[in-house]
Amino acid sequence: MVPPSTIGPPLSKPSFVFRLLLLINLLTVSFCDDAAVMSNLLAALSPAPSGWSASKDPCTWTNVNCDKSTGNVITINLDSQSISGNLPSDLTQLSSLRTLSVQKNSLSGTLPSFANMSSLEGLYLDSNQFSSIPQDFLLGLPNLQTFSISDNGELSPWQIPSYLAESTNLGSFYASNASITGVIPNFFDSFPNLQNLRLSYNNLTGSLPGSFGSSEIQNLWLNNQQQGLSGTIDVLSSMTQLTQVWLHANAFTGPIPDLSKCVNLFDLQLRDNQLTGVVPVSITALPKLVNITLQNNNLQGPMPEFGKNVKNNVGNTFCKDTPGPCDPQVTALLAVAGGLGYPITFAQSWEGNNACNSWKFISCEQGNVITVNLEMDDFSGTISPALANLTSLRYLYLDNNNLSGPIPENLNTLPNLQVLDVSNNHLSGPIPVFPPSVTFSHSGNLFLGKNVSTGGGSPGSGQNSDVPGDNPSSHSSNGSSISAGMIVGVVIAVVVFVVVVLFVSYKCYMKRQHKMKVSVKGTAIPTEIKKWQIVDCGRTFPAHEDGNIAIPIQVLEKATNFFSEENVLGSGGYGVVYLGKLDDGTKVAVKKMKDGATHTKGINAFQAEIAFLTKVRHRNLVALIGYCINDNNRLLVYEYMPHGTLGRHLFEWEKHGFHPLTWKQRVTIALDVAKGMEYLHSLAHQSFIHRDIKSSNILLCDDMSAKVADFGLVRKAPNDKYSFETRIAGTFGYLAPEYATTGRATNKVDVYAFGVVLMEIITGKKAVDETLPDETCHLVTWFHKIIRKGHNIQNAIDPTLDLDDQTFESISKVAELAAHCTANKYFRRPNMEHVVNVLGPFAQKWKPLRLEEIEEKYGGLNLQMSLPLAFDDSSIESLSFTEAQLNGNRLNQSAQF
Ligand SMILES: *[C@@H]1O[C@H](CO)[C@@H](O)[C@H](O)[C@H]1NC(C)=O
Ligand SMILES: *[C@@H]1O[C@H](CO)[C@@H](O)[C@H](O)[C@H]1NC(C)=O
Ligand SMILES: *[C@@H]1O[C@H](CO)[C@@H](O)[C@H](O)[C@H]1NC(C)=O
Repeated sequence: MVPPSTIGPPLSKPSFVFRLLLLINLLTVSFCDDAAVMSNLLAALSPAPSGWSASKDPCTWTNVNCDKSTGNVITINLDSQSISGNLPSDLTQLSSLRTLSVQKNSLSGTLPSFANMSSLEGLYLDSNQFSSIPQDFLLGLPNLQTFSISDNGELSPWQIPSYLAESTNLGSFYASNASITGVIPNFFDSFPNLQNLRLSYNNLTGSLPGSFGSSEIQNLWLNNQQQGLSGTIDVLSSMTQLTQVWLHANAFTGPIPDLSKCVNLFDLQLRDNQLTGVVPVSITALPKLVNITLQNNNLQGPMPEFGKNVKNNVGNTFCKDTPGPCDPQVTALLAVAGGLGYPITFAQSWEGNNACNSWKFISCEQGNVITVNLEMDDFSGTISPALANLTSLRYLYLDNNNLSGPIPENLNTLPNLQVLDVSNNHLSGPIPVFPPSVTFSHSGNLFLGKNVSTGGGSPGSGQNSDVPGDNPSSHSSNGSSISAGMIVGVVIAVVVFVVVVLFVSYKCYMKRQHKMKVSVKGTAIPTEIKKWQIVDCGRTFPAHEDGNIAIPIQVLEKATNFFSEENVLGSGGYGVVYLGKLDDGTKVAVKKMKDGATHTKGINAFQAEIAFLTKVRHRNLVALIGYCINDNNRLLVYEYMPHGTLGRHLFEWEKHGFHPLTWKQRVTIALDVAKGMEYLHSLAHQSFIHRDIKSSNILLCDDMSAKVADFGLVRKAPNDKYSFETRIAGTFGYLAPEYATTGRATNKVDVYAFGVVLMEIITGKKAVDETLPDETCHLVTWFHKIIRKGHNIQNAIDPTLDLDDQTFESISKVAELAAHCTANKYFRRPNMEHVVNVLGPFAQKWKPLRLEEIEEKYGGLNLQMSLPLAFDDSSIESLSFTEAQLNGNRLNQSAQF
């Protein structure tokens, strides 16, 4: 109802009259606007849609509906009208529009933005020739239910925007054949009503997002991506609402998961991928399944039995051409491959129903498998108890892989076994006892023989294996006892984690006010240090006058050009780092914590880093310039290190067009890092452990001097030298063995990691490089082997280094130091003071002088701060867990729980 436009009886409150007038005015305006927008639309289309006329009220046009009370347009339907032209950009002003249907026409040009059309429920744009999409075109559409843009092959490439997660009413998203690139965002737990997701014929890459598992999707079309989606399809097993799944013509790998809960599935298209493994029998029993394609994969084992018309054997490696069980040796070996996740190598070599027909890794005598040799092949996964079914087996080599879980106890029932080598893996659980006739090697398994909860079977139970024959605890088929054990381990880990998080949140809540005051506001920097900071890294910084280093978000937005893609310096599990340019021209690095990092644990890491860095100043530790807290955003602002990480200069110099670092530069960098760490380890009578020293956390200045960065994991060294940690954090390849086993972190953990960095500096090889042959892929192991066996170190040296006699001598000394730093026993490792002394003579002479004086005088420390006050706090200790959670490549060991 439109309010009366005449002013009635005098009203007591003038403001009411005013508001009434305003309302009338608004209504008229929006009506006028709608009419104007509609006439623009009409003008942009050709031929004019039938029943549309510029001289008439748009509400009277064919297939246009208006709200009777306001006169606003609420639906426009131009489905299949052979119309060309474009959609004008002011369409977004139709504030009440609920449905726009323009599908199956020849519309072209840039799509208008539909941003903030809060009433919009249906948007049908499919089968047109639109050319491009504005970035914000679906932003702020809380009521959007159906979106369809399929078959717009002319579109320039675009990505599914992550802000779409705000459209929580989405039920159908149709965007097949629409030039989409990038990955499928992991936001499907935001759409409780999403049933249809069609994204076929695009160029999506990456893997299926984990949040599919908590979605309600029934109809899933992802087939025929140009380069192909990859990774496993495991997530399907938890998508129990699925009815139709098209994943064909992609690059998926791994086995077909157990789909027995997907009871409504009638159509499953998996052909033309790289799936491996045995087809789960449960799939043939799905009650509604009528159409399934599996051809052109690398599937193995028995051919599944579907209806007569389903021809799925083509292009697979089923053991036989007809359904039915495989040969027992084949069955056992496939279970072994299953324990390793069915790697593609097995699928390609293990063809047919005779394991003795030149299968890779296998040798036979008289048709019986006598050797299984999987050593040094980078396999991960578990050892299948099915090996015990290979009764002729004599030699079993599983050493030097990444195998985890227990050694199946039933292996000691193998009557002919002579050699079992499982050394250098990550096995755990009890060590089975073998008869004296078996040569059993199991060294180099940190968790083996320890009573850890991730082990299967009955850890710690009696090992009555001198009784050959039955061994009840290991008769579970195909490692299911292992996964049960793992689940228990994971559940315990999760429970403990939740408890820790709750506890920390509570403590944090109690302390937040106090802590922020203490750790940020109260930081007054001694004048000398301020000066020093100003000349640091050869550039100037705004020194913080009053110690308050909060920076307004607007400043950072401006500095980073609104966090534009072009300013991205790097990213990781924690978030993204942007290059920023402050008004005075100073370049800074702005670390924007990931959204997930703004939960309690992330906030702790954030505050810990602020607290730590505002108090700690050293020319070899990256300086914090400021921070910003704005809504959910947490940002840290650091000095900008123009030459990036040491890792980049060691491993990617070619790609970035750098010169490889000279030996002098390398030793100088190492010395810088050592000095920074020495400082950290002996700060004000209190030792701090960095816990994540690695080449990607070492940053370089213009003059190639180095600084240690990323203090998210830093913690106080335990006073009590017998104290043990329950959590482990850090990065694979840099972890000291005693830390990985007991969780005990002393500053020797940093010394070890530093030793690994030295090895990287010498060899030009990464701490862990999956792409290298097995002997060389784990740097420390390989390096130690060379030193131990007295091999010529020369072959290990980075080939880009110029080896004159003097350099070679220097490298040999540093190599010795590296081996020393990575000694297995932590007490054999030197302290950083020693390291600094050893490296000193080989490095470039130190230039500055005054700065050192200041450092010596003040230790770079804010003396007004009481460090134990800020750091004797369990939330700091919990960082090990939090950052490990945030950063995918960091280790988070639950084995100690
Ligand atoms: C993709 O869409 C275009 C129309 O833009 C159509 O001609 C083409 O056949 C479609 N391709 C597929 C594979 O559906
Ligand atoms: C199964 O596939 C056939 C052949 O592609 C097709 O004609 C039929 O409609 C499909 N049935 C279902 C239920 O999808
Ligand atoms: C060994 O083979 C038998 C018979 O084929 C089977 O029932 C059993 O599950 C197998 N054992 C393991 C551990 O796979």
